Amino acid sequence: MGAVLSLKNVDKKIGKAQIIQDVSFDVYPGEIFGFLGPNGAGKTTTIRMIVGLTKMTAGDITVNGHSIATDYKRAIEQIGTIVENPELYPYLTAEKNLIHFGRMSKNVTKKDINDRLKLVNLDYAKDQKVKTFSLGMKQRLGIAQAMLHRPKLLILDEPTNGLDPAGIREIRTFLRKVAKEENVAILISSHLLSEIEHICDRFAIIQEGNITQIESVSNESDLKQGVHSYYIETDNPTRAQKLIETTFPNLTITQQEQFIQLMLTKEEAGNIVTLLTSNDVVVYQVVLEKQSLEERFFEATSGGLV
Ligand SMILES: Nc1ncnc2c1ncn2[C@@H]1O[C@H](COP(=O)(O)OP(=O)(O)OP(=O)(O)O)[C@@H](O)[C@H]1O
Ligand SMILES: [Mg+2]
Repeated sequence: MGAVLSLKNVDKKIGKAQIIQDVSFDVYPGEIFGFLGPNGAGKTTTIRMIVGLTKMTAGDITVNGHSIATDYKRAIEQIGTIVENPELYPYLTAEKNLIHFGRMSKNVTKKDINDRLKLVNLDYAKDQKVKTFSLGMKQRLGIAQAMLHRPKLLILDEPTNGLDPAGIREIRTFLRKVAKEENVAILISSHLLSEIEHICDRFAIIQEGNITQIESVSNESDLKQGVHSYYIETDNPTRAQKLIETTFPNLTITQQEQFIQLMLTKEEAGNIVTLLTSNDVVVYQVVLEKQSLEERFFEATSGGLV
């Protein structure tokens, strides 16, 4: 399946300042993609370029194949967004706000409005004026509004800013639901790793206008292909080390008490267990050292973010 959102070598200069440099990434249907970076990294600027609020200096951005630069109308139709704060009318009720915004797009029915209110758990407050809403309720209504026309791509700039943990969890739950059930691609920016870790499937890190890495939150796919640190506990670590060194001379082994530690692929780990047990070394346990996202992240950024 093709990407819903695609950024290719996007640059943004304001005056002489290079705000965004060579940013490229793709977001796919049904995926929640995080855009993680500290204050001033360029998250909002990138989002503003995606939704056409500011022009890029170079590169291209397409939404379902339609370029924001040359085919803006077709591209923007597919997007639902809140950049910074949702625009809501405080003296109208939640439902009346959605009716009002629904009139701005084609084919928004009363049912769409009710479905969206239910999705964001505001069904119970639909007749309440927005000025009485908590921040979390306003944020949820803003997301309902952004999704009224059933966009293929939802873009939210720091959607959980200022919310309490319960509010954050609520947003997380329904974003997952729409991504999965409606196959919507969702781009969310945040300066909090913990948030990205809990909401997103993949994320890009942006620092000073540059993407420094793109990766999956779960490292299951890495585990299938990559090399990881294993600890193997045996009844005879010295003999285990000798056996492995003779059979696999390229591996580096360190001994730590009853454990030997080495970097292996999954297949190699299996071969090593077979080697040891068939040579009468008793294997008590094989421990895969899983690095948490936070550890990987700090390694990659030298702790530049929290
Ligand atoms: N109109 C502008 N003129 C000059 N510089 C700008 C302008 N808009 C943004 N910048 C600069 O671009 C950089 C990126 O800003 P941006 O708002 O995109 O960051 P951000 O990642 O969204 O930060 P935050 O987490 O604080 O929202 C900052 O250094 C900012 O000062
Ligand atoms: Mg911002």
